[in-house]
Amino acid sequence: MNGLMIKGLLFAAVLIGATIYVVNSMKIDLSDPINLITMIGAVAIAVLTVGVSIKYINQMKTDKATGELADENWDGIGEYKNELPGGWAFSFLGTMIWAVWYFLAGYPLNAYSQIGEYNEEVLAYNAKFESVHKNADAATLQSMGESIFLVQCAPCHGETGDGLTGKAHDFTKRFSKEQVLHAIVNGSDQLKYAMGAMPGGMAQGADAEAIAEYVAGGMKGEQPASFGVCAGCHGADGKGNGGTAPNLVEYDDALVHQVVENGKKGSIGAMPAFKGRLTPVQEKALATYLSTIKG
Ligand code: HEC
Ligand code: HEC
Repeated sequence: MNGLMIKGLLFAAVLIGATIYVVNSMKIDLSDPINLITMIGAVAIAVLTVGVSIKYINQMKTDKATGELADENWDGIGEYKNELPGGWAFSFLGTMIWAVWYFLAGYPLNAYSQIGEYNEEVLAYNAKFESVHKNADAATLQSMGESIFLVQCAPCHGETGDGLTGKAHDFTKRFSKEQVLHAIVNGSDQLKYAMGAMPGGMAQGADAEAIAEYVAGGMKGEQPASFGVCAGCHGADGKGNGGTAPNLVEYDDALVHQVVENGKKGSIGAMPAFKGRLTPVQEKALATYLSTIKG
């Protein structure tokens, strides 16, 4: 037995001793077979590590290189003409094949991903939600709309939908006079209705005032003659010609859909778009709920 061997055995004994010390101090129960196997594994690793290290250290001390040197050398250091070891060559080839498989069929392109799974689950859930509630009655839509409203919309529009005294649109009425005037003066090009933008400056001065007052008043009483210019697009009853232009009287499905999908900027401020975050049934539910909010 040489000195190296003795040092190695001492080192293995220290490793094993330390392992036993830790196992004892953590009160690990070695009558449990899994713990026992783990313990045997730890001892085996210590012995093997020391044994293999000793073998190679000894070999390094005594080994002489043999074989034919290649002609090239760099600063006197040359290379042996060794055959590529078969095992190494096959594993190298195997790695390349595996890399191609992994890229195309394994993780990156054909991947499992938590986000992907989440998105698929959301899509599947939404599809199920849409089919279950396809023909939901008004009462269901209303209570569904109320819950969505309280979570998504109330932070700006207020729990009662009153717009938190002028911070966001007030649902207890369709419009304020300023909002209608703002649209008449500036036009509107954000809600993406099929007919496109509404040009600004459609009416001026007293006419604009009269129209704004009439629309903000819920289009009740005598219609000002000048409303004729609006009727071409919004309809004589102001209800938006079946969804071609915004309904100026009620919160219908089309209006809520366009506003929620595209957001809205007006005289009060800006509302962000909820693009794709609400399903058609949810938008319909919101429209149903909004029309029940009355001043
Ligand atoms: C050429 C067709 C057209 C005419 C005429 C027209 N509008 Fe519009 N109006 C629209 C369209 C389309 C929108 C939605 C535009 C957008 O933002 O995408 C709109 C938007 C509005 C809005 C904002 C709706 C909302 O819910 O935010 C108001 C208010 C309005 N119009 C009032 C009027 C009044 C009042 C008149 C008459 C003076 C008038 N419009 C004339 C087509 C028209
Ligand atoms: C970050 C604040 C904010 C949130 C959240 C928000 N809104 Fe708004 N919303 C506004 C503001 C501000 C306006 C007024 C824009 C203007 O006309 O100046 C507005 C306007 C509207 C209008 C336009 C009315 C009209 O015809 O002009 C509708 C409809 C609406 N919101 C519905 C909703 C719904 C439904 C939700 C929830 C899904 C929601 N909003 C969430 C801020 C918000």
